[in-house]
Formats: sequence, structure tokens, C-alpha cells
Amino acid sequence: MRTLLIGGRGQLGTALRARLAGEVIAPDRSQLDLTETAGVAAQLDQLRPDVVINAAAYNLVDRAEDEPELAFLQNALVVRHLARAVDAIGGTLVHVSTDHVFGLDGALRQPLRETDLPGPVSVYGASKLAGEGFVRSLCARHFVLRTCGLYGVAESPGKGNFVATMLRLGRQQGEVRVVDDQHCTPTRADDLARAIVELVSGVDYGLYHVTNAGATTWCGFAREIFRLAALPVKVTPITSAEFAAKARRPAWSVLAGERIATRLSQPLPHWTTALAEYLAARGELNRG
Ligand SMILES: NC(=O)c1ccc[n+]([C@@H]2O[C@H](COP(=O)([O-])OP(=O)(O)OC[C@H]3O[C@@H](n4cnc5c(N)ncnc54)[C@H](OP(=O)(O)O)[C@@H]3O)[C@@H](O)[C@H]2O)c1
Repeated sequence: MRTLLIGGRGQLGTALRARLAGEVIAPDRSQLDLTETAGVAAQLDQLRPDVVINAAAYNLVDRAEDEPELAFLQNALVVRHLARAVDAIGGTLVHVSTDHVFGLDGALRQPLRETDLPGPVSVYGASKLAGEGFVRSLCARHFVLRTCGLYGVAESPGKGNFVATMLRLGRQQGEVRVVDDQHCTPTRADDLARAIVELVSGVDYGLYHVTNAGATTWCGFAREIFRLAALPVKVTPITSAEFAAKARRPAWSVLAGERIATRLSQPLPHWTTALAEYLAARGELNRG
């Protein structure tokens, strides 16, 4: 099987490169830029991959509020071209989306299913929802995976994640203030990568919610990071209003995992287990 991996230097892309078998072509952005749509179509036509995985995205949630054209270009319009081009060669497209397609229904407190009506509250969320819509309507063989709170080790320089940020701030300041009214499921990039690898070995195309198991808030996530690393950091819970980020975030981002569970050889681990393994691999777990 020949796989073309786009965004292979990001958090998810780096985890995928470690897991994908067969022939894997993983150009960096200088070799394949999704915004150069003619070049992308030409490369697909020449390479004829069986599977194309799009792990690239415009991810700057707050900045997107000020540059919606760029967010929609990267997360929606180029994805439309990509979906058409992959369909034209009879390939399978794996596209990654986000919990930020939800948020409009603030009363929701049940894990969100693939059949629940999305309703984004930010430019980023709206652009990602548009992108997944193009994939679902234009490429017959598709897997669209919505995930949440992704963290992993990116080969690309300068790509931090919430875990790294908390460890850095905790060590520097001894105290952090973290939002406690946004519910989420932190998800290790390596677990999402495993789910993708298993999915593409089959033909159960469609939309999937893919996260680690369980749920917490960003504040709960921070507390667990410091507990596992045995760092004496004071964690102060604050509200989203107090944090005052430019973009709104969903208050409830817990995605239901029943559908993906039926497709995997074993369920994805609980988020606390995944976090402990991630910290252990980074030499940050306190085993005392
Ligand atoms: N991070 C999260 O918390 C989170 C949560 C939910 C869903 N997601 C989704 O999960 C997916 C993977 O996210 P991630 O955190 O792994 O992303 P990431 O670490 O930011 O990596 C994105 C990669 O895409 C590349 N890229 C960006 N624009 C490109 C373009 N026009 N052409 C080619 N490559 C381009 C980047 O290249 P450079 O290295 O050159 O910048 C980078 O290697 C995305 O679809 C994202 O929306 C992320």
C-alpha cells in the first residue's frame, strides 16, 4: 500500500510516520504545499497513492478570528481541491477534524455522537466544519476523524502542546491559572495515529469521533500533568470569561467513542493512562 502523508512533521504527522507500514511518502511543506492546488493535483496524479492522509491544518484558533480568509483557505478550500483530486484517482482520503465543530448548543452534557448536529462558535471551528463537509461530499472513500485536545511530539520546530506548555509554565512560575469550564478529552497523537492505521486497513468509510477515553477539563488536565510529574505547582481554576481568549471554545467537547470502538482491535486507553505513558516516554513521569 502506498500512502501519501501531508503534514507529516506536525504532532499527528510525526506519530503517523512512526506507525505507518508499507510505502510512505511524507513530503514536507516546501515539497508539497496544500495551497498550491495545481501542484497537489499533479503530484497525486504522478504518485497515485492508495491512501492520502491529511494531517495538515491551520490550527491557530485565536488568530483565525482576525484572518478568517486564511483559515478558510487552508482548512476548507484547499481541502475541497484535495478531496476532488483524491477521488479522481480512486484513492482513500483520511482527513482530521476537531471538537471545535461543536459548541453552539451550550446545554449539551452527553458525549457527542457523529450524528449530533455540529454548530461551531469560532472561525477555526467553522472552517474545519466546511473542510470536513467537502471531504464527505466530494471523495467517496473517506475517513473523517474528529479529535480533541491533541498532544504529541512534532518534528517541526516550535510546535508546542498543552503538556509541554504546562510543564514549562509550572517550572517557571510555580503557579498556573487554567480554564475549568471547558470539558474535553485530552488525546495522545500516537493513539489517534493507531486508530488511523487500523481504519485505513478496512473499508468502513465515514465520520468517526476519535479520542482517548474519559473526560476532564483543561484545569483537570493540568492538575494530572503536575501530579504525574510530581511538580508542586499551584493550579488555580478560572472561567473562560476570565481567561478571555479571542476565540470562543466549546464548553462541552467530550466526543462519544462507540463508533470507533467497533473498528479497533482494542479500545484507545483512558486519557490519564495515555498521559502517564507520554510523560514516561519523555522522561517526565515521577515513579516515586
Ligand atoms: N492540536 C490540537 O489540539 C487539535 C485538536 C483537535 C483537532 N486537531 C486537528 O488534528 C490535525 C493535526 O493537528 P496537529 O496538532 O498535529 O497539527 P500541527 O502539529 O500544527 O501540524 C500541522 C502540520 O501541517 C503542516 N501544514 C500546515 N499548512 C500546510 C500546508 N498549506 N501545506 C502542507 N502542510 C501544511 C505543518 O507544516 P509546518 O511544520 O511547516 O508548519 C505541520 O507539519 C489537524 O487537522 C487539526 O485541526 C488538532
